[in-house]
Amino acid sequence: MTGITEPTDDAVTNASGNPSFAAMIGRRRIIQGGLAGAAAFLAGGHTMAGNALAEAINGSSDGSPLLLLGFEAIAPGTADTVAVPPGYTAQAILPWGDPIVPSGPAFSDDASNSAADQREQIGMGHDGIHYFPLDGSNTGLIAMNHEYTVGAQLFPDGREEWTAEKTAKEQAAHGVTVVEVEAAGGAWNTLESPRARRIDANTPMRFSGPAAGHRLVRTSADPTGSVPLGTLNNCGNGYTPWGTYLTTEENFNGYFHEETEGAGLSAEQVEINERYGVAGTGFGYLWATTDDRFRADVNPQEPNRFGWIVEIDPYDPTSTPVKHTALGRFKHEGAAFATGADGQAVVYMGDDQRDDYVYKFVSDGDWLADRKAGRNPLESGTLYAARFDDESSGTWLPLVYGVGPLVAANGFADQGDVVVKARLAADAVGATTMDRPEWTAVHPSTGEVFVTCTNNTARTEANVANPRLANSWGHIIRWTEDGGDPAAETFSWDFFLLAGPADGESGSTLDADDEMGSPDGLWVDANCRMWIQTDGAQPGEGNNQMFCADPATGEIRRFLVGPPNCEVTGVTATPDGKTLFINIQHPGDRGPAEDPTATSTWPDGPGAGRPRPATVAITKDDGGVIGT
Ligand code: FEO
Ligand code: CA
Ligand code: CA
Repeated sequence: MTGITEPTDDAVTNASGNPSFAAMIGRRRIIQGGLAGAAAFLAGGHTMAGNALAEAINGSSDGSPLLLLGFEAIAPGTADTVAVPPGYTAQAILPWGDPIVPSGPAFSDDASNSAADQREQIGMGHDGIHYFPLDGSNTGLIAMNHEYTVGAQLFPDGREEWTAEKTAKEQAAHGVTVVEVEAAGGAWNTLESPRARRIDANTPMRFSGPAAGHRLVRTSADPTGSVPLGTLNNCGNGYTPWGTYLTTEENFNGYFHEETEGAGLSAEQVEINERYGVAGTGFGYLWATTDDRFRADVNPQEPNRFGWIVEIDPYDPTSTPVKHTALGRFKHEGAAFATGADGQAVVYMGDDQRDDYVYKFVSDGDWLADRKAGRNPLESGTLYAARFDDESSGTWLPLVYGVGPLVAANGFADQGDVVVKARLAADAVGATTMDRPEWTAVHPSTGEVFVTCTNNTARTEANVANPRLANSWGHIIRWTEDGGDPAAETFSWDFFLLAGPADGESGSTLDADDEMGSPDGLWVDANCRMWIQTDGAQPGEGNNQMFCADPATGEIRRFLVGPPNCEVTGVTATPDGKTLFINIQHPGDRGPAEDPTATSTWPDGPGAGRPRPATVAITKDDGGVIGT
C-alpha cells in the first residue's frame, strides 16, 4: 500500500428513496441576471457590500463601467507549474512541512520530520483558506484546512511498516493551520507570531448546541460528551462577519475501522454507521491499528463526534475550537454565510456524497445582538434541508424535533438525535438527492446563493436539480431566497452552468474555451467575481484549474491551471483585492513512495525530494485588483 488516494467516498449510503422528479430540464434559462430580490436582501438587518451592489449595477464609483473580467484567459495545460494570465505572478507560499513560525523545525526534504516536528509545521492536503486582516492588506492571519495526507509523500518509506509514530504524524498533518503573513518586497513572508497555531486531530474542542453532552456523543474517555478531541478531513471552509473561521469535517468515516459488521453495537449505531459509511477499514488509514479511538468497534460513538462545522477564532490563539452541533452532522463541505432579514446568521452547507443533500442553518436571533450580548449565534437555530420542487422553485424543510416525521417513533427523541442523525432526518422529510454538493457561495450584493454539484456517476434516477444520469462533469445551481430574505423557507432557482465538454453531447452549457469538469471550490469575492475551482477529470484531460466568472452575465474565463495530479481548492483575498490566495492540494499524488517525484516536483522543482501542497499568492504586476 503506497498511499491513500483523495478521500472521495464513492458509495451511495442514501437508501431513503427520496423524491426524484423525473422531468428532465432542457436548455432553459441557464443564465439570468438574478438581481431580483437584491433590494430586499440589502434591506436585511445588516447590509452587506452595498457599494459593491451599486457598482455592479451602475459601474464603478468614478462612473466608469466595472471591469469584472479584464484579464486574458489562459489555455488548459499539463505543465508542472501554476499557470496564471499574462501580467500576473504566482508565488508558492506556506507549503506542507514548513514551520508555522520561522524559528520552528525546518522541513526535511526526505520527509523524515517527526510527529513532534509536524505539530509545529504546516499540515498536508491544503484546502479551504481565509485571510483575516491585522494591518489591512499588508499583514494578516491565514487560516487554512488540511484535508488529508498522502502517505507516499508524508514518510520516507511511505506507509509500509506502520507505527504509532506514523499515526501521530498523520494526525498532526491534519486539521487547521493559522499563520501570520506579511507582504514585503513583492513577496509574502511568514512572521514570528504569537497567533501562529496548529489545530489537529488531537486538539481539545468543545461541543455547542443540541448534541452537546448528548447520549450519542458520549464515550468512555469523555463520559459527559463535552470534550471532543480533534478535527478531521477539513475540506471547504467559511467565515463569519465577527471574524472567525469555519472549518468543515467531510469524509470522517474513512478514518475509522469497524470490522465486526456491527457486532456488539446498538441497532441505532449500526443504522447511523450505515448511513454515514463507517465500515470495514474505512479508506485504508491505519490509525486504528495503533490508536483505539479510531476503532469504532471499541469506541462505537467516537465517529458521532465528527462530521460537524467547527468554529475557530484565529485572533485568539488560546481559544477552544467549537463544534457547533446545531448546524447538523454530515460530510460537510462549505459554510457560506449570509444575514437574514431579521439579522439572523444563515449558513449554507453541502453534504458531499452521491445522492446527499443541501442544507442551511438559520440562527434564532439577530447575530449582531447575540454577539453584543456575548452569545454565539451558531449555538441555537433551525437546520433545514433543501427540496427542489420543480424547475424553478424549492422549499427549505425544517429538521426540527417533533415536526413531521421527526418524532420518537422514527428514532428522533430530541433535537440532539436530529442533528447527530441529520442525514436520516433529511431522508425522513423528503429532501432532494443531489450530485455531491460541495462548496456554497453567497453573492455579496444580490444575495444569490450558488452550490457546486461536483459529479455523480451513480445516479439511477434524474431529478429537476440533477438532470443527468451519468453526471461525470457536474453543475452549479443558483437560487434566490423568496423575498430576498436568506432566512426564507422557499426559494427560486436555476442552473448557473452545466459542466463538461462543449461537444453537444454532454449537456454542457459551456463554450469550448471554458470547458471544465467537477466544479468544487467556489467563492464570490467582495467585488462580485465568482471563482470556480475544479477537482476531477477535465474535458481534454488537462490539469485541474480555476476559472473566474461574472455571475451577472455568465461570462467565464480560465484564470489558473495547477500542476499534475493536483486539486485546486480554497480561495480568499486581501481586503484590497490585490492578492488572491488559492491552495494546491496533493500535487503529484500518483507518485509511489519509491519515487514521490514521479509526476510532479511542484513547488520546489527538480532536485527536491517530493512535491508539496502549498498556498499560491497571486498578484498583478501593475499592482491592480486580481481579475481586472
Ligand atoms: Fe473534500 Fe468534497 O471535497
Ligand atoms: Ca472539495
Ligand atoms: Ca471534490
